[in-house]
Amino acid sequence: MFLDEIERIARISKNLFKDKNIKLLSQFDADGISSAAILVKAFMRENVKFDLRILKQLTSNEIKKISVTEKDILILSDFGSGQLNMLKDIIEKTNVIILDHHEPFEYKHENLYHINPLLFNEKEMSASIVCYLYAKFLNLKNVDLVDIAIIGAVADSADEKWEFKGLIKKILEEGELIGKISVNRGLRFYGRNSRPIFKSLAFTFDPLIPGISGSEPQAVQFLSELGISVKEGKEWKKLKDLTLEEQQKLASAIIMKRIKTEKDASDIFGDIYTLLERPEELQDVREFATIINSCGRTGNHQIALRLLLGDYSAIEKSWTVMEKYRGMISSGLNWIKNNPKNIIKTENATFILAKKNIHESIIGTVSMILLNSEIIDSSKPIFGMAYSGEDKIKVSARISKTLKPINLKSIISKTAISVGGEGGGHPSAAGAVIPINKEDEFIRIIGGEIIKQKMV
Ligand code: C5P
Repeated sequence: MFLDEIERIARISKNLFKDKNIKLLSQFDADGISSAAILVKAFMRENVKFDLRILKQLTSNEIKKISVTEKDILILSDFGSGQLNMLKDIIEKTNVIILDHHEPFEYKHENLYHINPLLFNEKEMSASIVCYLYAKFLNLKNVDLVDIAIIGAVADSADEKWEFKGLIKKILEEGELIGKISVNRGLRFYGRNSRPIFKSLAFTFDPLIPGISGSEPQAVQFLSELGISVKEGKEWKKLKDLTLEEQQKLASAIIMKRIKTEKDASDIFGDIYTLLERPEELQDVREFATIINSCGRTGNHQIALRLLLGDYSAIEKSWTVMEKYRGMISSGLNWIKNNPKNIIKTENATFILAKKNIHESIIGTVSMILLNSEIIDSSKPIFGMAYSGEDKIKVSARISKTLKPINLKSIISKTAISVGGEGGGHPSAAGAVIPINKEDEFIRIIGGEIIKQKMV
């Protein structure tokens, strides 16, 4: 039924495109930018006029700035479903197509075409997958955009434990069939093509390697005890450079380290997706997704879109952006380590009061890393809070996916509204913007809301 609905809306869209201009808005993270890239290519193939804007978030302020007439179609990707209550005036004026996967606000109107898997009980799907399915119904040629769909899905962690299920798994198989993607089992560690192995190990928190996650010196020592040299000549060895025998030795040693503390010690393998038609530096989906995310979150949307659409003259620039982005994250983490008094640990949650010290665009990523670290209790939700402009606070909430049934989206949006802000998202990753003077009140109300949900 979900696919039937996308097909129906794609068919109607083709008619709408004939005499209307498209105004496309998409979100700035890797899923949002991948969604935009898919739609841009699809609209170019349809020969329709469009303009694109990438936004941090579709807030009420941004919605006020949207100007449309009945000659336009507004298309929103990777947001819109949760903001439907604020879009009613625009929907009265003209057609709006929403391609999203966030928790939807229930609203129907003859001008509104709303594609969201959650309306059909389909879970764990990224916006890029929704946009890909829509693009494919517009024109079967768009099947060649499957790799961009998978980049967005990986970026949004739609493959828990690095394994897709359901509809996305079928889409992945489609990518394999047309020779765009190959799938192999391997160690679930980041940076297999780009990082020295000791950095891959030290940077990996899920799966946790006790004593090594978070410590580069310990990772170097661990590898040397195993007789795995960290360098090949002058070059740092990467995970992809290990022989089969070295990989097996490393995997067994990691499992041995995990046996004492982890429930499932051998849960260290996952699917590795390789993009066969991309340049070598961009073939690992996870690394490509990280580049797109860093470009998106630092305002370098054009670089991200060019790379996704096959203009590789932007590669060098993207490395510089990524270095800067990594630097921002590690200085954010260091600031927290050096300022533990800004970590508020309550009975039900952890709050990071970063104020001006961590940029709002990375507070979500920093919160996620902290959740997987030993600094805080990973069995409680984390709320990272950073100043946003002169008068607001950006809140990013994350919870370990295994910790159900707390629904962060409903907690955060309810609390944000009660203090004069707004929010939305998913059950395990949600965000909000609140007035700067409401920090204490927000923290107090969140505590109560978590207790209420736990009691249900
Ligand atoms: O910004 P952050 O990464 O913390 O957002 C987590 C999730 O919550 C994202 O999917 C984002 O789109 C959503 N969100 C939202 N409304 C906001 C802030 C975030 O729907 N005001």
